[in-house]
Amino acid sequence: MPTTPDDRPELTLTSTADGTRTLHCPVADQTYHSTHGALAEARHVFLEGSDTAQRLAEGLATHVLEIGLGTGLNLAVTLAEAARTRTPLRYTAVELRPLPPPLLDALAHDAILPPDLRNPFRQLLSGLHDAPQGSVLRERWRPPHPDVDITLVRDDARSALPCLDIHVDAIYLDAFSPSACPELWETDFLAALRRVSVPEAVLATYSCAGAVRRALVNAGWTPRKRPGPPGGKREVLRATRP
Ligand SMILES: C[S@@+](CC[C@H](N)C(=O)[O-])C[C@H]1O[C@@H](n2cnc3c(N)ncnc32)[C@H](O)[C@@H]1O
Repeated sequence: MPTTPDDRPELTLTSTADGTRTLHCPVADQTYHSTHGALAEARHVFLEGSDTAQRLAEGLATHVLEIGLGTGLNLAVTLAEAARTRTPLRYTAVELRPLPPPLLDALAHDAILPPDLRNPFRQLLSGLHDAPQGSVLRERWRPPHPDVDITLVRDDARSALPCLDIHVDAIYLDAFSPSACPELWETDFLAALRRVSVPEAVLATYSCAGAVRRALVNAGWTPRKRPGPPGGKREVLRATRP
């Protein structure tokens, strides 16, 4: 795998089983997405697992919070669905280390968006990379683009969350795994996620670890396993806020 020519030389590009690309991070010793299919994971685990696909299909305006924006693939998948269903979307995402534009270009995740959204999407992610730590970027798209409000925060999710005055319908918990990034899977943080969500909100994540399920219960969530994406993890998790 080639080393990438930018300010994150430790990250390497790799292809996944559905033809979409992801990154391998040697520090966390894991990829940003499932190698069984990055796009399949984004759709199945997050868009569908959090009921966001269903809400948008029903025309319900939806607010999604993502922990770990990374390559922006989950954002792109959700924007594409909002555009397809013509349903208003708010999307708030937090990222500690935004990726540099050459890496985003090499990943080409904007290709899943309608053509008129690709440039705005790339500019948005590049803007977050260039913004100082602690920055909050806000973007509004209105028709003929889909009706979308996006807030991107460049910060540690633990310090960012209490400053966000939000009440979200869905959470994509897409941090690195509990072994690499334990602080984003502990009861305190999961309770903070509960505080920024509405009753009946759904949290979706790929980790089914027993410790994660116990921490979710302690934080006031009701976790349930569900089947994973075809060819990928056997089970993934969705948790509801009673
Ligand atoms: C599995 S990747 C996210 C993949 C992403 N959702 C996507 O669609 O490409 C995990 C991300 O969490 C970020 N991260 C790690 N620690 C964090 C923290 N304390 N606060 C916010 N983001 C963090 C990493 O920089 C990385 O981009």
